Amino acid sequence: MKITGCLNFALVLASFAAARTPVKRDNVSTILSDIENAVTCAACEALLVILQGLAHLGNDDFTSTITEVCILAGVEDSDVCAGAISREGPILAHDLRQMNIPSHTAQLFCNTIFGLCPFPTVTAYNVTFPSPKPSTSRPAASGKTSVKVVHYSDIHVDLSYETGSSYNCTKNICCRPYTSADAPGNTSYPAGPYGNHACDAPVSLEESMYAAIQEIAPDAIFTLFTGDVVEGAVWLVNETEVTGDLQSAYGKMSSLTQVYSTVGNHDAAPVNSFPPDAVNTTISSQWVYDTLSSLWTSSIGSAASATADRNPGAYSVLHPGSNLRIISFNTNMYYKENFWLYESTMEADPSGQLAWLVDELQAAEDAGERVYLIGHMPMGSGDAFYDGSNYFDQIVTRYEAVIAALFFGHTHKDEFEISYSNYTSQSYSNAVEISYIAPAMTPTSGMPAFRVYSVDPETYAILDMTTYIANMSDPTYQTSGPTWAKYYSVKETYGLLVTPPLTDAYAELTPAFWHNLTEVFSSNQTVFDEYYARKSRGYDVADCIGSCVTDEVCQLRAAQSQYNCVTVSPGINFKVKRSDNSHGMDAHSDGNCQGSQTKRILRALMTRKDIQSKLDRRITGFGDDNA
Ligand SMILES: *[C@@H]1O[C@H](CO)[C@@H](O)[C@H](O)[C@H]1NC(C)=O
Ligand SMILES: *[C@@H]1O[C@H](CO)[C@@H](O)[C@H](O)[C@H]1NC(C)=O
Ligand SMILES: *[C@@H]1O[C@H](CO)[C@@H](O)[C@H](O)[C@H]1NC(C)=O
Ligand SMILES: *[C@@H]1O[C@H](CO)[C@@H](O)[C@H](O)[C@H]1NC(C)=O
Ligand SMILES: *[C@@H]1O[C@H](CO)[C@@H](O)[C@H](O)[C@H]1NC(C)=O
Ligand SMILES: *[C@@H]1O[C@H](CO)[C@@H](O)[C@H](O)[C@H]1NC(C)=O
Ligand SMILES: *[C@@H]1O[C@H](CO)[C@@H](O)[C@H](O)[C@H]1NC(C)=O
Ligand SMILES: *[C@@H]1O[C@H](CO)[C@@H](O)[C@H](O)[C@H]1NC(C)=O
Ligand SMILES: *[C@@H]1O[C@H](CO)[C@@H](O)[C@H](O)[C@H]1NC(C)=O
Ligand SMILES: *[C@@H]1O[C@H](CO)[C@@H](O)[C@H](O)[C@H]1NC(C)=O
Repeated sequence: MKITGCLNFALVLASFAAARTPVKRDNVSTILSDIENAVTCAACEALLVILQGLAHLGNDDFTSTITEVCILAGVEDSDVCAGAISREGPILAHDLRQMNIPSHTAQLFCNTIFGLCPFPTVTAYNVTFPSPKPSTSRPAASGKTSVKVVHYSDIHVDLSYETGSSYNCTKNICCRPYTSADAPGNTSYPAGPYGNHACDAPVSLEESMYAAIQEIAPDAIFTLFTGDVVEGAVWLVNETEVTGDLQSAYGKMSSLTQVYSTVGNHDAAPVNSFPPDAVNTTISSQWVYDTLSSLWTSSIGSAASATADRNPGAYSVLHPGSNLRIISFNTNMYYKENFWLYESTMEADPSGQLAWLVDELQAAEDAGERVYLIGHMPMGSGDAFYDGSNYFDQIVTRYEAVIAALFFGHTHKDEFEISYSNYTSQSYSNAVEISYIAPAMTPTSGMPAFRVYSVDPETYAILDMTTYIANMSDPTYQTSGPTWAKYYSVKETYGLLVTPPLTDAYAELTPAFWHNLTEVFSSNQTVFDEYYARKSRGYDVADCIGSCVTDEVCQLRAAQSQYNCVTVSPGINFKVKRSDNSHGMDAHSDGNCQGSQTKRILRALMTRKDIQSKLDRRITGFGDDNA
């Protein structure tokens, strides 16, 4: 069955735990229904106690039991159950073994895995700054002729993509001969050579985009790539594949001008696995940092690449011949699906990255430099911990005069997030920074896209942003190959809609401009609808009115995640994959992991006596059940 991409551990764990809960064990349906209806956070913590007992039996028992339930319940294809749980199970078991229940960590775990608790309120923590905030503000535009910077993201190249294989499969990404029926020649749904919305990107699409970038912006001064190289068949992905994928992709990127990159959540195996320094585990991602730093050396130099080789894989480098510093940081340190972060006492600053950022920004301020901050996950997204996002935003606010802009990907959508010095009274006058969130190249959630920014050559302020797409609905797309064409420019599209109009080619797209634009989105449904369609580059556009608009604008105004208006729903939040909206950060849950499929599986489970009795035997046997 196609669960549009959600290998739903939540369901598996919940059904297991439900069957074991002593007080209710003979009425599984009641508990499943409680979970479905999100009754209480306390109920979730009770489930964790049971799962913790299973985790104490050891990783092997934990993963084999959960896999068995996943297969029996038909939550995913059996190969997906086995592959994904064998990779991620040991990390979850590690968390559960050391978890205090109830606790801040337990509540977060329930939020992420089961969607059953709200985020706990932010644990107050003041980031320490070496000097007080100066009175300086963003520099005025220089009035000089702009230069170009290219930005693309989330390429998710599938080296196993096969033209002619089925694009209608039972997995979260297709266009591979998973079975003989999916093989070229045997399927009625043959994939074309240049990609499909149900699949990650073929190399042909990747090469086409790089060629288009060189043709459209041959004079770009540098390029930003905000991470996620590896494809979404996460139940198969291992160190060998990730290393090969990174080598292939960064090899091809060397044809572009000076690429500055950052690590994505998919650029590791198991997916999302980035243990902070302080975590004691043999499952290391040091090999990711080794691989990336070596692939990055030619663009960032050996000093920066030596920094990138240390956990967490961040670096800071002055763009040659300029006063612009590029700081690349690893957002997986604040990502709620990096399960290494669920330590019994969660660290305020995993791997010391925030302290390092402060040092780098202070040095930049002292030297009179400008800074671009680049990362993978936007820090205001529904996937970012409230705590880490809050601490990070303290840094952004402190150094608002130094940071020209922030750049991210991860959501696969064309969007942005505004930072404010006061989120409870948001206005153009206290909007301090803007995060540019690039749409994906992989076609799973829209037309493949990249951006070209017009940039002030002195202040490095962003003056305009033009998005280019390859329209996969073009009838000649698969026969002639992708045609990359201008989609829209921010100044041309929105410049006349704000008051006062912003049309001067030398004027910056300031945080205040972006705030004023969100005012237009709120008040003019026509303008909003056009923005909303652009998010996915015209692909699969849903209606968005009323509270959907309010929530969308709320997210655009929340570079700090506690203000993003994202709510969690039971049972839907544990995603091992990326695919259309399921990065979750499309905050307002046009996520494809929820709703009817979840309910359908829950209902199926309730009627499966064989699964329930199997679980019941486990309750009494606690692991020594050989049934
Ligand atoms: C489970 O319990 C609920 C509420 O107590 C009850 O309505 C329902 O009939 C029970 N189901 C079974 C299968 O016993
Ligand atoms: C953070 O700083 C504020 C103001 O300086 C102070 O009131 C507050 O107690 C500090 N919080 C912590 C957790 O240190
Ligand atoms: C996939 O195949 C099923 C039948 O196996 C069919 O009902 C469905 O419409 C197909 N989906 C697409 C996108 O073609
Ligand atoms: C197509 O299906 C047939 C029958 O299942 C099988 O023998 C054959 O190997 C398949 N072709 C490919 C390329 O897998
Ligand atoms: C990684 O996966 C590939 C393909 O699934 C497999 O051929 C290879 O042996 C695996 N490597 C390791 C180290 O497990
Ligand atoms: C790390 O874990 C291992 C195995 O559980 C244990 O033997 C070792 O003492 C731990 N080290 C630290 C520093 O806690
Ligand atoms: C933020 O704005 C609100 C509403 O105007 C005000 O009550 C609050 O004191 C402000 N907070 C700060 C830190 O200035
Ligand atoms: C893509 O092409 C289709 C078919 O020609 C057209 O209907 C659609 O408007 C195009 N989309 C965009 C975003 O240009
Ligand atoms: C934003 O709107 C306010 C009026 O609400 C206006 O005074 C200000 O100049 C605008 N700023 C920009 C950059 O558009
Ligand atoms: C919305 O904006 C459009 C410009 O795109 C304008 O033509 C229209 O009059 C505006 N509608 C309202 C209600 O202001």
